[in-house]
Amino acid sequence: MTATMSHAVPFKTALRDTLCGSLRLENVGASVRLGGWVHRRRDLGGLVFIDLRDRAGIVQVSFDPDFASPQALELARGLGTESVVLITGDVVARPAQMRNAELESGDVEVRGRTLRLVGPAETPVIPVARNRGEPLPAEELRLRHRHLDLRRPELRDNIILRHTLMQATRAYLSGEGFVEIETPILTKPTPEGARDYLVPSRVHPGEFYALPQSPQLYKQLLMVSGFDRYFQIARCFRDEDLRADRQPEFTQIDIEASFVTREDIMAVAEGLISALWSAAGHTLQPPFRRMTYGDAMERYGCDRPDLRYGLEIRDVTPVFAASDLSFVKQAIDAGGRVRGIRVTGGASMSRKQTDELEAIAKSAGAGGLIVLKRSAAGLEGKGAKFLPEGSADRLGLIEGDLGVFVAAPDAVSSPALDRVRQELARRLDLIPPDELEFVWVVDFPMFERDATTGAVTPVHHPFTAVHPDDGELLATDPTKARALAYDLVLNGTELGGGSIRISNPAEQSRVFSLLGIDEETALARFGFLLEGLRAGAPPHGGIAFGFDRVAMLLAGATSLRDVIAFPKTTAARALFEGAPTSVPREDLGDLHIAVVGD
Ligand code: AMO
Repeated sequence: MTATMSHAVPFKTALRDTLCGSLRLENVGASVRLGGWVHRRRDLGGLVFIDLRDRAGIVQVSFDPDFASPQALELARGLGTESVVLITGDVVARPAQMRNAELESGDVEVRGRTLRLVGPAETPVIPVARNRGEPLPAEELRLRHRHLDLRRPELRDNIILRHTLMQATRAYLSGEGFVEIETPILTKPTPEGARDYLVPSRVHPGEFYALPQSPQLYKQLLMVSGFDRYFQIARCFRDEDLRADRQPEFTQIDIEASFVTREDIMAVAEGLISALWSAAGHTLQPPFRRMTYGDAMERYGCDRPDLRYGLEIRDVTPVFAASDLSFVKQAIDAGGRVRGIRVTGGASMSRKQTDELEAIAKSAGAGGLIVLKRSAAGLEGKGAKFLPEGSADRLGLIEGDLGVFVAAPDAVSSPALDRVRQELARRLDLIPPDELEFVWVVDFPMFERDATTGAVTPVHHPFTAVHPDDGELLATDPTKARALAYDLVLNGTELGGGSIRISNPAEQSRVFSLLGIDEETALARFGFLLEGLRAGAPPHGGIAFGFDRVAMLLAGATSLRDVIAFPKTTAARALFEGAPTSVPREDLGDLHIAVVGD
């Protein structure tokens, strides 16, 4: 989508008075002074055409000997693309047959009179002007030469859309009484589940600041201080495995409020999201639907379900319990279940395709995938003959259907079936491209057990309050306790997450101890929070949205890199500026750091 911006008054400067891309028929007859980049140049002998580009778009400028100065004509002939020029000329209407519907300014052109080369350009390493359908250069090359790639209209529009969304965020939240407050970047570790980026202190040998994974603790302390409603468009830093929807440094719309329940936070969040979508030209109709974490895991195998298509997971353990399949029996006896997905008309998938589905299930940790098809002859597929008569009906399969099943504990079958479900939707083209399926996922568990160490870890973060009905469970069976946490999910992407916080210091200490954080460590890491909570803390809660993710979805982009001006690669490198880099050993010495292996 194109971000709309006024191209009027503020662009007038001492050197130019009009934006190229803003010229229309109503400007015909005007003398204009333009400044911009040479997008394309065509030399037709006597006549030279330049497509001149600026932030607003492109206009065609013609230089002909009857109007242009001889110097201008001469200079125009030798101009290299991407050079910066200043042009004066007159706006004229193009003859009807010469109008260019692809350019917003395509009904007019500028008849150039004078031309000044103010910023000569070397031959660009990657082209900015592209013909229709011409593929983009490799992303690595584009990231390496980001200053050129950012000249591309698509990226320019994305970055301007980002700006529009930022202003809409400020306008909405400020209008709701939220105060924008900046919190430190050089700080103490904030646990959000990733590794910290550390910054060595020069003046305090052996001590380090951490870059914030989020402003979580500060925003809670602002509630303690009485600010009541806070927001920040906050930069966050997380050293974690990167993907298309994760960057090591990213931006959150961070919100916190006092004297609230989760309903209050969800209402503000819905208002903000609607304001953002509306700033990008869409209308949303909150409230959004809700689903418990338990339901999401049961029906979709994940806590951020894509609800644009069906393919729900169902429990078919009783049907398989009656089979003679020994591995299934073993799985059920060991406390597992058989769960699977019915695919209407899926029996037409080839053996190769179903083998690929099995490979996906296996790569997600399942031992295998039971694939059954119902044809006119009955149930077919590995294991079909071990199922009793009538199983096809009990599995809900009708002729032409495919069923795929995993026999395992839920912790194994859920991620496997989630991946298989997504793959099926893609392959069978079941995803309606323009649909927006927002869903709040609520009632997350407070804790989970680390699969390798068995340690109890917070599902959200350790400052999240327990669900009021589950307080007792903290003492008896903490992993069964639900938290007052909520995530907003759109089409399978987690847009934001938050919770009601623990505002009672004793309760906070109890949660630290459940997490195996002893008193001394709790004091050292979170003493300032505990001190704050002891100073009179209002009930409070909040949420943070991934701003880059919102911008990505609204821009119709598939990677955060397309909505961040200077992003990092998935290897956490900044290719354009060349970071990270090694530093001279003496500089490290000043920071009291030695590199192992040096
Ligand atoms: P959480 O860790 O869920 O919550 O983060 C909130 C949102 O930030 C976005 N996000 C990211 N975006 C891009 N790259 C990343 N590496 C990345 N990591 C997270 C996601 C996510 O939903 N302090 C809590 C919020 C709270 O409790 O109020 C927090 O940071 O869209």
